[in-house]
Amino acid sequence: MSSNQTDVVFFDENGLRTDQRKPDEIRPMKIKIGVLSRANGSCYLEWGANKVIAAVYGPREAHPRRMQLAGKAVIRYRYNMQSFSVEDRARPGPSRRSSEISKVSREAFEPVIFSDAYPKAAIDIFVEVLQADAGTRTAAINAASLALVDAGIPMRGLVSACAVGKVGGKIVLDLNKPEDNYGEADLPIAMTEDGKITLVQMDGHLTPDEFTEAMELVQKGCRQVLEIQKAALLEKYASVMDDDSEIVEIEEEIAEDIEDSDADDITDEMVDDFVNQVSERLARDISAVISEYEVSDETSESTIDLFDDDIDLVIIDEDEESDIDFIEIDEDAVDFDDDSDDEDDDSDDEDDDSDDETEDFSKEIDKTSADDEEFDDDEEE
Ligand code: CDP
Repeated sequence: MSSNQTDVVFFDENGLRTDQRKPDEIRPMKIKIGVLSRANGSCYLEWGANKVIAAVYGPREAHPRRMQLAGKAVIRYRYNMQSFSVEDRARPGPSRRSSEISKVSREAFEPVIFSDAYPKAAIDIFVEVLQADAGTRTAAINAASLALVDAGIPMRGLVSACAVGKVGGKIVLDLNKPEDNYGEADLPIAMTEDGKITLVQMDGHLTPDEFTEAMELVQKGCRQVLEIQKAALLEKYASVMDDDSEIVEIEEEIAEDIEDSDADDITDEMVDDFVNQVSERLARDISAVISEYEVSDETSESTIDLFDDDIDLVIIDEDEESDIDFIEIDEDAVDFDDDSDDEDDDSDDEDDDSDDETEDFSKEIDKTSADDEEFDDDEEE
């Protein structure tokens, strides 16, 4: 946003913008999913003159280890602008601007990614801006959202982003470079498919009414982006979804069972019947196995109740015939008594053993932390 915006003409006599768009129109967007073979997921996106590429790696073990979270995956997001992406050469490497964009973009994804599914893992999102023309953070989020899907990261839905702003006194969607530089306000927004906002930033000034109008307009923008994202996903994955090779296999299997018939004669009903028959047969087989080993009151030591969650250890009568291979447990070798006040004769020996174990274990921990330090040092280098 600049203060000398008064000299700039933002609309022509037909009310169209400098790039001939209507106020509620977004710039054309092109998307290609799966462009990098070494990333788990990737996406190249053009939005107007913006060109960005997003790559997702993971879920993978988080390094350095101190970044690991016990109950969920850590999500990392790096937005980077190539020095050749802007008119004046951008200084390479991290900057306050790129750190800020990386942070807010990561936060835009945190509520939608099922990170609980991957404790101690990392999901790394990298975005490179190859050509910038205002709106790169929103373009980056849209590309990252698709790269995450391409990587198979489970999410509550897509995240779609779009900017809205005020130029020449009017609220407009998806600001271009002159509008971004000389307009009165710029609000990049990201939202989920059901309209929940995961990123909102604002540069400039708006009245409360203008803010409300902007939020209504940006929802339209994000919905347009969502449609384009979905179309790109369909383009990439429709052929996979149409692959009915499994159905063909089933049809051939049924055809083999029916004399003088080939796969083309098999109807949908026959496939359904076949699948039902197989499921019923499986269910019968499973219940037969279960009933064979179900507990009976009289022989509680020789049989197992597969439904009893409380059973820690099952003692098997060796004379009993069984189809299942059980690991034999030498009861004498196992101390089931947790009571540390146990004063029997062997207690000293046991204590010695456990001390040894503790010492070994602490050595192991020291070694692990030394490894970690080495890793950190490597990284810092
Ligand atoms: O790109 P976005 O609108 O998300 O972020 P911005 O900080 O509002 O930047 C707006 C535009 O200014 C960028 O898209 C670039 O075209 C330009 N810019 C630049 O020319 N040099 C920079 N170092 C940073 C941004």
